[in-house]
Amino acid sequence: MELSPKSRCYQIIAIVSSILILELLSLRVQGSSQVEYSISYPAINCRKHSAVLTDFGGVGDGKTSNTKAFNSAIANLSQFASDGGAQLIVPPGKWLTGSFNLTSHFTLYIHKEAVLLASQDEAEWPHLAVLPSYGRGRDGPGGRFSSLIFGTNLTDVVVTGGNGTIDGQGAPWWIKYRSNQLNITRPYLIEIMYSNHVQISNVTLINSPSWNVHPIYCSNVLVQGLTILAPIDSPNTDGINPDSCTNTIIEDCYIVSGDDCIAVKSGWDQYGTKFGMPTKHLIIRRLTCISPDSATIALGSEMSGGIKDVRAEDITAIDTQSGVRIKTAIGRGGYVKDIYVRRMTMKTMKYVFWMTGSYGSHPDPNFDPKALPEITGINYRDMVAENVTYSARLDGIQNDPFTGICISNVTIGLTEKPQKLQWNCTDVQGFTSRVTPPACNLLPEKKDNTDCFYPKDKLPIENIELKTCFMTK
Ligand SMILES: *[C@@H]1O[C@H](CO)[C@@H](O)[C@H](O)[C@H]1NC(C)=O
Ligand SMILES: *[C@@H]1O[C@H](CO)[C@@H](O)[C@H](O)[C@H]1NC(C)=O
Ligand SMILES: *[C@@H]1O[C@H](CO)[C@@H](O)[C@H](O)[C@H]1NC(C)=O
Ligand SMILES: *[C@@H]1O[C@H](CO)[C@@H](O)[C@H](O)[C@H]1NC(C)=O
Ligand SMILES: *[C@@H]1O[C@H](CO)[C@@H](O)[C@H](O)[C@H]1NC(C)=O
Ligand SMILES: *[C@@H]1O[C@H](CO)[C@@H](O)[C@H](O)[C@H]1NC(C)=O
Ligand SMILES: *[C@@H]1O[C@H](CO)[C@@H](O)[C@H](O)[C@H]1NC(C)=O
Ligand SMILES: *[C@@H]1O[C@H](CO)[C@@H](O)[C@H](O)[C@H]1NC(C)=O
Ligand SMILES: *[C@@H]1O[C@H](CO)[C@@H](O)[C@H](O)[C@H]1NC(C)=O
Repeated sequence: MELSPKSRCYQIIAIVSSILILELLSLRVQGSSQVEYSISYPAINCRKHSAVLTDFGGVGDGKTSNTKAFNSAIANLSQFASDGGAQLIVPPGKWLTGSFNLTSHFTLYIHKEAVLLASQDEAEWPHLAVLPSYGRGRDGPGGRFSSLIFGTNLTDVVVTGGNGTIDGQGAPWWIKYRSNQLNITRPYLIEIMYSNHVQISNVTLINSPSWNVHPIYCSNVLVQGLTILAPIDSPNTDGINPDSCTNTIIEDCYIVSGDDCIAVKSGWDQYGTKFGMPTKHLIIRRLTCISPDSATIALGSEMSGGIKDVRAEDITAIDTQSGVRIKTAIGRGGYVKDIYVRRMTMKTMKYVFWMTGSYGSHPDPNFDPKALPEITGINYRDMVAENVTYSARLDGIQNDPFTGICISNVTIGLTEKPQKLQWNCTDVQGFTSRVTPPACNLLPEKKDNTDCFYPKDKLPIENIELKTCFMTK
């Protein structure tokens, strides 16, 4: 067959570019239409069985709903839970979907060229009952929309990817929330409940309708390498909210959001007290946060089940309202204790330190006004901040002071127009050492160069060893 020079040239370009594209996507074409993925990734457990969303009728055109494809894929793969587990690959493409449920001994792998697009059709979001430790939805008294990726009562579940994207397409939800059109709480992007051995890593989450990642009533949770992005004025787009969980590590995350980058929680007033499940043994490290209207790490305000043994280190905050912020209120009960933070670098902050005992916000009027929170053992050390408006606003509760506060080796540089009263303290007790500007009288300076305590032992979650897993299909 004779080819004109022009069409030959097109043919070569076509061949070269298809090779390039295949290389880029790490795909190898086998036989006629069989596609094999050569993927490797670290995980708490590898899987014997593999499938691709397209095996179950998935269509990655950005328009077709894949809710059924996800549900049938995961229903099918759940049969392998006791036979080496299964992994489901979301391949390159744009995969529109509503909420779907994960299963045990299962990995959802989102390819680096894949985007999960959250449906904006409310019919694609089943309703769930309110959380027992909250007693009502946060956006309204009714129930809640199930999260985009939801799992409950699971063991050994992984959501990971080569930095693939989960796009919550949240704008219509933000509008409905702001105009009071919701009596059901907005969905989150990833929520895992009552589960053990959970990994969420190496994906990018953007524009969530509300919170991004919510492990609740879980233990042994690894969150690593998340990029979380939402407009800084979007409502309640918290980054990661460990809630009534034990043994959690959150590391190497980059978060820009409209609410707290990390918010540690454990239930709300009388519901949280009754449920009684604390968040404890939590590590947060190598976090970068940008959140002009909220905290880098918030403890509370829902803390009625208690928060204890939180260790945060190597934290960077830029253009953020506050560093670590404790939020509580009369009626919460519970405690926040044994909190250790070191090596924070902050630039352009309204507050470096902020504690509030009058946060208010109750689920209903039936909270117990005698339920006072216990805030004690708060240790902050080795921090540098620049361009700060207020060094500290530490506002405990009358007749229920926040105690055991220790702040050492902290240097705070102020903005051109700083507040006159740099340390505004009421109802707090403790001391400081090598802190500039000097703290309030309630936190007197110790002259013996004391460093605040930071634990030297390792928590069990730090000893977790990841395996290298392959897609073997
Ligand atoms: C689901 O599982 C069954 C039983 O193992 C299998 O035969 C079938 O091919 C699977 N369905 C799909 C769509 O892959
Ligand atoms: C997902 O899990 C929830 C809570 O257990 C349940 O109500 C719902 O029916 C499940 N959805 C599917 C599609 O299985
Ligand atoms: C929520 O609002 C819709 C319409 O505004 C209404 O039909 C529905 O009954 C309400 N549901 C609850 C749980 O209040
Ligand atoms: C999940 O676990 C919780 C706590 O153990 C239990 O109360 C609940 O009934 C379980 N739900 C399912 C669907 O098994
Ligand atoms: C992941 O993707 C986000 C958004 O595109 C990007 O900002 C980030 O640097 C990526 N992370 C890695 C580790 O490649
Ligand atoms: C996440 O990606 C980084 C960079 O590619 C890699 O070093 C790390 O092992 C991955 N971790 C997990 C848990 O996926
Ligand atoms: C004080 O904090 C800074 C900033 O984290 C650190 O570089 C320095 O080593 C600390 N000094 C001491 C004596 O620990
Ligand atoms: C310092 O902070 C102020 C807000 O208080 C901000 O407007 C200004 O841009 C910041 N300057 C620098 C150099 O970041
Ligand atoms: C100090 O804090 C108290 C209580 O939070 C507040 O009412 C007061 O206005 C603050 N004072 C200044 C000068 O900022």
